[in-house]
Amino acid sequence: MSDQQQQNMAPLEHLAIIMDGNGRWAKNQGLPRIAGHHQGVQTVIQVVDECVKVGIRYLSLFAFSSENWGRPQQEVEALMELLLQFLASQRQKMLDGGIRLRVIGDRSRLTESVRQALADAEKETAAGTTLTMVLALSYGGRDEILRAAKKLAEQAVSGSVDLQSIDNKQFSTLLDTQDIPEPDLLIRTSGEQRISNFLLWQAAYAELYFTDVLWPDFNAQELHKAIEDYRQRKRRFGLTDDQLQPGRQLPEGENH
Ligand code: FPP
Repeated sequence: MSDQQQQNMAPLEHLAIIMDGNGRWAKNQGLPRIAGHHQGVQTVIQVVDECVKVGIRYLSLFAFSSENWGRPQQEVEALMELLLQFLASQRQKMLDGGIRLRVIGDRSRLTESVRQALADAEKETAAGTTLTMVLALSYGGRDEILRAAKKLAEQAVSGSVDLQSIDNKQFSTLLDTQDIPEPDLLIRTSGEQRISNFLLWQAAYAELYFTDVLWPDFNAQELHKAIEDYRQRKRRFGLTDDQLQPGRQLPEGENH
């Protein structure tokens, strides 16, 4: 690889994915929607393995949005059941592989049994340092920002924070993602080209990659295509080319 190519290789520390198209995949096969979600879990397992192989440190998956609560009750329950099965079946593999689970979203809407299973898995895997899998559940970007703003307002009212000193970096610590770096690459499958309320604050400078492939058909090869595409991107974070010379500091509050 030439020096020029090396220099253009943007680091990929955090990959975020909007896993879309399970329902359409199932419909195409003449199967019920939940069969698409089942197959989607198999894709999750493959993608996690591949992320570990290529050295990605954070993988954020949009597994259930705040809006998904509006789906038919039967589908919501089936998705929660799938989640519980996923946690149980992957537990040992996560522990052996150093995979840490983190959950973002409004847990208060989840059932007690789901909340407990998530808390147990987070606790058990807390020492994992190979890959952090961030599951967005009952998650909405606006909701997350609103919850952070309310925390800040409470702190301001109690006098524990000086509002003038709040900057991007400090505000970020009030988000569910707290100490997680911002995503470098955001993939959405199934041909839709929207962010749909995922990581609204955090994805401000993420590179976006859209593919027509439906999530159950996504695989290691498709992941490599996305990574290859990302490697060709030139990330500027609002700066000029000259300012992006190696070693230059990025603007305050933009941690990439
Ligand atoms: C979008 O497809 C997918 C979801 C709303 C759920 C994603 C969930 C999984 C992949 C399985 C559960 C995940 C884990 C980690 C256990 P869609 O149903 O909106 O598809 P459509 O747009 O084709 O209808």
